[in-house]
Amino acid sequence: MLANCRTSWRVVGYGLLAVASAAGSRAEAEEPPPPSSQTASDPAAERGREALLFRGYLSPEWGEEVYRKVAELWDGKAPDPDADPEAYAEAFASRYGLHPAPYPNGGLPMGLRRSENLKTGRVGFQIDCLACHGGSIGGRSYVGLGNTQLDLIGLYRDFYRADGRPLFFTGFTVNTVRGSVNAGQMAAILISLRNPDLSRRLFPLPHGAKFPETDVPAWWLLKHKRTMYYDGRTDARSVRSIMQFLLGEKTREQFEELEPTFADILAYLNRIEAPSYPFPIDDGLAARGREVFEEHCARCHGSYGEDRSYPNRIIELDVIGTDPARALAGTEALVSHFNASWFGETYPVDEVLTGYQAPPLDGIWATAPYLHNGSVPTLAQLLDSSTRPGRFRRPPSTGFEHYDTEAVGWRVEVLDPVSPEQAARDSDRSIFDASRFGLGNQGHTFGDLLSDDDRRTVIEYLKTL
Ligand code: HEC
Ligand code: HEC
Repeated sequence: MLANCRTSWRVVGYGLLAVASAAGSRAEAEEPPPPSSQTASDPAAERGREALLFRGYLSPEWGEEVYRKVAELWDGKAPDPDADPEAYAEAFASRYGLHPAPYPNGGLPMGLRRSENLKTGRVGFQIDCLACHGGSIGGRSYVGLGNTQLDLIGLYRDFYRADGRPLFFTGFTVNTVRGSVNAGQMAAILISLRNPDLSRRLFPLPHGAKFPETDVPAWWLLKHKRTMYYDGRTDARSVRSIMQFLLGEKTREQFEELEPTFADILAYLNRIEAPSYPFPIDDGLAARGREVFEEHCARCHGSYGEDRSYPNRIIELDVIGTDPARALAGTEALVSHFNASWFGETYPVDEVLTGYQAPPLDGIWATAPYLHNGSVPTLAQLLDSSTRPGRFRRPPSTGFEHYDTEAVGWRVEVLDPVSPEQAARDSDRSIFDASRFGLGNQGHTFGDLLSDDDRRTVIEYLKTL
């Protein structure tokens, strides 16, 4: 588990382990953001957009120099940050799997934030929600598209090394492959270091939860959901739940002060729209596909268009059959500890463990790879389970040159299977291997029953959502 740091628990924020100090922080001063047409009519959402994109909430985790110093760890392959800052920024973003910010961010990619410790005046870097929740596709960045390129453990290792500090945390897998993150275990560790009143514990509460790494869900789905997270056990209106990462440093009083700000952020998340499919769609095929979808899929995923409806169903593990590790991770001990705390006061986590929520499918064309663990590269493979590759190399970017408009999703390099022991030892994080913990690509076999022709029409229909 967390390494032996007995004096002050170095606690987990996004930066995973920041020294436990209750210092405030402030993001670098920015141009005042232009009001967004998407949120202009909703003052709470407009405040939330500013609060999300233009403010930092955690003290810097790494010193200011790390942005340049990490390049010393790149085997001499770095462009000169002074002579060619743009080439440097690009190399930096691509190395760690970050994307250009579609809002002013001081020249930094989405997810990386310059911030200042208000107590000490120290300036440095932190990562924020957009490291995981900011993605790109076809050369455009989107706030709320899950980041399928992020290499969080690679970023942590380099940043701490460049900052001249050891990386303290061990004992859980942050990610074995790019684009996966273990947000669940981070949150579980954070809450285990607090008492129900949010005072700090000397030793973590044992909770037995073992979360796997997962994909990151798109924020534009949230407005349609009554419950959130892959297991659907948390009310989608829970503001406190989206504040968990602040447990890295905030006190109970600070949480209470910040709650209205995060209510605004949630209002903003609920205004985000899915991007439309950018290539031609065969309308006739899609219309036929809609009928197949209504017959075979809508009971779980809902109906779309003018009179849309979404049943918000959470499907039992033995029915859905996908990798159970994420659903099983929410142990009774963890849930009851969370529910006894400030976080569970307003919207407690459901005590019943069922399985996985059938998500709304808006913008599904943009969110490959599929399933909660990103184990299936395309819709065609999702709908024909016999064709799913067990081991593959993820594409090196989210450019359309790697996108498959027929199968809908990512063109991957399929690799020969290796033994699970070998797969567990892999250090190349461009490789996905379904034999690793939580990454199984089985289940969701509903498409297997369809004819090839029906599958083709459903895929065409899914492009319209
Ligand atoms: C380290 C990566 C990471 C960071 C940082 C992060 N998230 Fe997430 N977020 C995830 C993952 C992964 C999930 C899915 C968790 C699950 O269900 O297991 C998620 C789920 C969510 C959901 C639920 C979405 C749904 O439809 O179920 C919301 C809302 C959310 N995050 C908001 C935020 C906000 C706001 C922040 C910043 C304060 C944030 N997240 C920071 C990775 C991250
Ligand atoms: C019995 C309910 C059920 C039926 C029927 C069903 N699904 Fe699903 N579907 C789910 C659940 C639950 C998940 C999430 C599983 C997971 O992530 O482990 C899912 C996931 C998906 C995903 C991936 C979503 C993502 O963001 O990665 C797609 C696409 C999808 N289903 C399409 C379909 C289509 C098309 C059909 C009809 C042929 C269908 N489903 C039938 C329950 C169902």
